[in-house]
Amino acid sequence: MQTIKTTSALRAAIRQWRSDGLSIAFVPTMGNLHAGHISLVETARQQADKVVVSIFVNPTQFGLNEDFDSYPRTEREDQEKLIASNADLLFLPAVQEMYPQTSKTGISVASLSTILCGESRPGHFDGVAVVVCKLLNMVQPDLLLLGEKDFQQLAVIRQMVADLNIPVEIKGIATVREADGLAMSSRNAYLSETERQLAPMLFQAISTVRDEILAGAADFETLVVRQSQRLQQAGFVVDYFQVRRSADLMPASATDQSLVVLIAARLGKTRLIDNVHFCR
Ligand code: PAJ
Repeated sequence: MQTIKTTSALRAAIRQWRSDGLSIAFVPTMGNLHAGHISLVETARQQADKVVVSIFVNPTQFGLNEDFDSYPRTEREDQEKLIASNADLLFLPAVQEMYPQTSKTGISVASLSTILCGESRPGHFDGVAVVVCKLLNMVQPDLLLLGEKDFQQLAVIRQMVADLNIPVEIKGIATVREADGLAMSSRNAYLSETERQLAPMLFQAISTVRDEILAGAADFETLVVRQSQRLQQAGFVVDYFQVRRSADLMPASATDQSLVVLIAARLGKTRLIDNVHFCR
């Protein structure tokens, strides 16, 4: 696996592959790789001739009081995991390489970026959209792999790619979970031992709501309020707990078929998100 830190060297590698007629799949990450990230890399491996992974902790998607500085950076371990999963190229740019000058161009995906996580993290999805757009312009992949764990992020990027005619196919990959159901996340490392034991309640709560809807319940509000109360009693601070249409993340009505239950909640200083999507 080659590790490349500059855009010019990345472009040269991509140019060579393109002239050899090879297809390229791309997995953008912020590093601290776990089995969730690796499942994206493994799918990429099956779908294209060359697999490019980026690791870049993107400052523009973190709010002022968020964890940019403390976000876990585990470059060496990440490199080993990527070699083991047969990635071809790791793009590892410094902040100065990605943002050599003050950017004056923004991308804001209206409404999708300001609801749910966008409400408590203003500007977050604008930062995600710009960095993913820049990375897509640098890597120019045929296929982009993203996790359903970040369901709203996936929706924002799908919309951006469609609106801006970016020539890439997007594949969403199912959430990889710990044995007790907790969605794998780099931020799980922030949890204390007690919090870690409570954390699977998040997935239990959204799964319960899904099961109740599948069993015929139609009053979504009652379902989420009941589960929110359970979580609050256990010590979670619930940011949002919503049943939405999976196509556009707008509020779901009793007749919508394709649904997603989304949650964000804080446990101590750690903000966790999760979702389950399903059809009824
Ligand atoms: P990061 O949180 O590192 O996630 C990188 C990719 O891995 C995302 O597509 C995310 O949805 C996916 N992922 C994370 N946990 C997962 C899990 N448990 N199962 C399956 N996939 C999982 O998301 C970002 O980075 C950034 O916002 C990024 C897109 C790289 C832009 O900076």
